[in-house]
Amino acid sequence: MRAKHLSIFFIFVFGALGGLLFGFDTGIISGASPLIESNFNLNIEQTGFVTSSVLIGSSIGALSIGTLSDRFGRKRLLLFASILFLLGSGLSMTAGGFVSMVVARIILGFAVGSASALTPAYLAELADAPHRGSLGTMFQLMITAGILLAYVSNLGFLHHNLLGIRDWRWMLGSALIPAAILFVGSLILPESPRFLVEKGRVDEARDVLHQLRKKTNEDPDKELADIQKVASLPKGGMKELVTFARPAVWVAIGLMLLQQLVGINSVIYFLPQVFIKGFGFPESNAIWISVGIGVVNFVCTILAYQIMDKFNRRTILLFGSVVMAISIGILSVLNFTLSVQAAAVPTMILIAIYIFGFAVSWGPICWLMLGEIFPLNVRGAGNSIGSAANWIGNFIVSQFFLVLLSMFHNNVGGPFAVFTFFAIVSIFFVIYVVPETRGKTLEAIELEMRQKAALKKSSN
Ligand code: BGC
Repeated sequence: MRAKHLSIFFIFVFGALGGLLFGFDTGIISGASPLIESNFNLNIEQTGFVTSSVLIGSSIGALSIGTLSDRFGRKRLLLFASILFLLGSGLSMTAGGFVSMVVARIILGFAVGSASALTPAYLAELADAPHRGSLGTMFQLMITAGILLAYVSNLGFLHHNLLGIRDWRWMLGSALIPAAILFVGSLILPESPRFLVEKGRVDEARDVLHQLRKKTNEDPDKELADIQKVASLPKGGMKELVTFARPAVWVAIGLMLLQQLVGINSVIYFLPQVFIKGFGFPESNAIWISVGIGVVNFVCTILAYQIMDKFNRRTILLFGSVVMAISIGILSVLNFTLSVQAAAVPTMILIAIYIFGFAVSWGPICWLMLGEIFPLNVRGAGNSIGSAANWIGNFIVSQFFLVLLSMFHNNVGGPFAVFTFFAIVSIFFVIYVVPETRGKTLEAIELEMRQKAALKKSSN
């Protein structure tokens, strides 16, 4: 099937499907790991490694895929990632012990990391400027849908060894379905028109642009001419990342590290444990706490989808930073001053407000901007760097959160005070470092960056 026959909605939903697997594969393990632990008789370190091995694989996957996508195209590598998703999901479902499980999780991680480095650029390159915010938010919407699905699948399969197959194998194996859909999707999705122009395949790029802009007010021929103009500028190869695109590298690394250091995954991965350990909630409630978080996260991301092209990215980021800093700042103070019983309910409410703050802002915008801020020639490579920074930040938070929690004798106020510090840092980062990208074409963003660098050079 050619791109011509596909609806625009289909293209963006399927283009963003890597996000669903990203969310699913990172979210599923919280429910599955205690079951795997008892089935394989693992010690705590081994269980921890089953969880974190995906993050190691993701960092490697993210780092290695970008330059390949600048060479071979976004679509082909999405197809490659979908094959890895199928392989990793199949292997983790059938793993016979600790080593095979870790290998499977690293392969899955590699796929997740690849998808996170490929998808933002792919979506940004397909979208028209006026709708790029919402269309790029589709990736985060898919991530949050994946997390929610993972929690629901945990809930559905727990203690049900259907057909004699253990519950955790069903949980991990259910990722095969979205992986198969991504595989089929990436066979029929169009290649990015910007990548096609970069490779001199202008006729194909024109076809794709005409198809994508059919129902918009944008003029595909003018857009094509703009892309051609930028693609014909002198190229600096990878060196561009340390010359005129250096500011973009810092913005990407800063956004991505801060997105993790504000602590969102302490909530996404560990909150049930916090409530069990810190507030004495019964274990059986854990899964419901997860489902609650998943729903709030997903619903708030739908809101983000709706507002993304109506307000400046910087305004939304600032709003999110302030909401997060205030909510977890108060949470931290309350947990140091009130009794455990008195702090439990306000903590839950404050965490819901914190998730709202993240989900409407830093959640979607970091991935969205990653796809927007790099010049065409090194967009894949730049996305690799930003995405790897995200996975490394994620790894750090996931490794240290439980340690920090026990250092503070299971008082969540401790780790959340650290996250509050980073939420405050994020306010200054947005004010002083992050550029505005709303409403501008990718080509205008690149030209602006080149001009700024040229001005700086001439004034030195
Ligand atoms: C982050 C993930 C996080 C998710 C939560 C994403 O933007 O990169 O690490 O788990 O948001 O919704």
